[in-house]
Amino acid sequence: TSDLPVYTLEEVTKHRSLDSGVWVTYKGGVYDITEFVAIHPGGDKILLAAGGALEPYWALYAVHQQDHVLEILSEYKIGVLNPESYKKQESANPSDPYSAEPTRHPALQINSLKPFNAEPPASILSDNYITPSVIFFKRNHLPVPRVDPEAYRLEIEGLSGGVVSLSLSELKSRFPKHTITATLQCAGNRRSEMNKVKQVKGLNWGIAAISNATWSGARLRDVLLYYGFGPEVAAKAKHVQFEGLDKDVTGTAYGASIPLNKAVSEEGDVLLAYEMNGEDLPPDHGYPVRVVVPGVVGARNVKWLGKIVVSDEESKSHWQQNDYKGFSPGTDWDTVDFKSAPAIQELPIQSAITHPAEGTSVDRSDREVTVKGYAWSGGGREVVRVDVSVDGGKTWHVAKLRTSDQGQHPAPPPPPGRAWAWKLWEIDVPIPHRAQELEIVCKAVDSGYNMQPDTVAPIWNLRGVLSNAWHRVKVKVSE
Ligand code: HEM
Ligand code: MTE
Repeated sequence: TSDLPVYTLEEVTKHRSLDSGVWVTYKGGVYDITEFVAIHPGGDKILLAAGGALEPYWALYAVHQQDHVLEILSEYKIGVLNPESYKKQESANPSDPYSAEPTRHPALQINSLKPFNAEPPASILSDNYITPSVIFFKRNHLPVPRVDPEAYRLEIEGLSGGVVSLSLSELKSRFPKHTITATLQCAGNRRSEMNKVKQVKGLNWGIAAISNATWSGARLRDVLLYYGFGPEVAAKAKHVQFEGLDKDVTGTAYGASIPLNKAVSEEGDVLLAYEMNGEDLPPDHGYPVRVVVPGVVGARNVKWLGKIVVSDEESKSHWQQNDYKGFSPGTDWDTVDFKSAPAIQELPIQSAITHPAEGTSVDRSDREVTVKGYAWSGGGREVVRVDVSVDGGKTWHVAKLRTSDQGQHPAPPPPPGRAWAWKLWEIDVPIPHRAQELEIVCKAVDSGYNMQPDTVAPIWNLRGVLSNAWHRVKVKVSE
């Protein structure tokens, strides 16, 4: 409003530390965000914008193009820039870091354009046991790096022989090619259901931030052993860290780590994958090399892999330390201590209904309703049963499980503890007499007899991760 103080850029520039106060500008407004810095979900990167404009940073982290972010910002408004300063600032706008993004399939439902985050429509997710790469969900934190396969090098640190640098053709020729079918799921899959209980911070994923593909590449275990992993390294190391080639404004790469045991175990099946569904990895999925850590949350499956570090420490990355962790429903942004919770690795049991869709109707004259969906569990635990109800959970039916595409031979059952791929399921359930609406519910059981919680509220958490309550879909019965 007109009675707010007017500032020059010079005055704003003086406030660039917690001591002198942290001021930023946005579209000509001036904001004192000193109090917000400590509770910023994106960590202390926010200080990069201190004393200047948010726009160039928010262009890189377009997660901020949401109403709830602007609402937070508005609480901190202290004034406006004088018109001359604002003009000067606008003319200095940098070029778009997202100008070289790959083209994407039009069916994808976009959660955020920059960085690109999208899921396939639920209605087509379970049409294929192996999800076609073009509609496989895509979760990027940064612009997609374009990597020249000839110039590509993979560095490995922390082994006895010093730093190793490996070309793509060496990776392909030196190690046997191994293929697995594995499901990837984002920790934020089904976050939108948590949002209905109470607002969480994160992309508003539906039920399709999960997909299944075949992956081929070298086993991480083989590569580490070849370059000198042995008892000496094993005695000290506890983690294997991965760094992507996608970098933020500070030059910091996307990163994550997994426990050493998972990386070197013969049963871990961790791949340095260069193929997805029988073809080179697509740019969105990590071309030319990504890590596939089957049974483990998507976030550790580092794409555009540039470096591997065998270490006694977890990755120092923001996404390992201050994100992708679970908390009590009673923990809020004012009280959360990210150090107090372990990084998510194996994911819990999950299932969801892909058909019918919420709000549609079924015909009473059909007598039965066909219900379809997917089920998967982390850590290689096999889905052993899916229960389906059409009366909100009063009575239950056991669905038929499927491990291949229609008309294809089912895959042989996986060795115990190595069930990396989802199961699709289907069942025809009689429509109860006189019911005018059906509340369809599904819940899965894994080989450890782990089951899904019945409601969302008791597992609500501020970041909206690990959302795996019974999935519920309401449909009308038409006469
Ligand atoms: C995430 C607010 C400035 C980097 C977030 C989120 C909020 C937020 C609410 C969570 C969004 C969601 O996941 O729905 C703000 C506000 C800012 C600000 C109010 C200014 C006053 C910045 C700046 C940077 C930055 C200047 C970078 C230099 C990030 C990152 C994330 C994030 C990296 C995490 C994104 C992810 O999950 O991948 N911010 N932010 N933020 N922010 Fe900010
Ligand atoms: N690797 C890099 N280098 N950069 C990223 O942003 N996103 C992670 C992971 N690997 C990410 C990454 C997250 S959070 C997920 S869920 C998966 O990639 C998504 O993989 P997809 O895009 O192939 O589905």
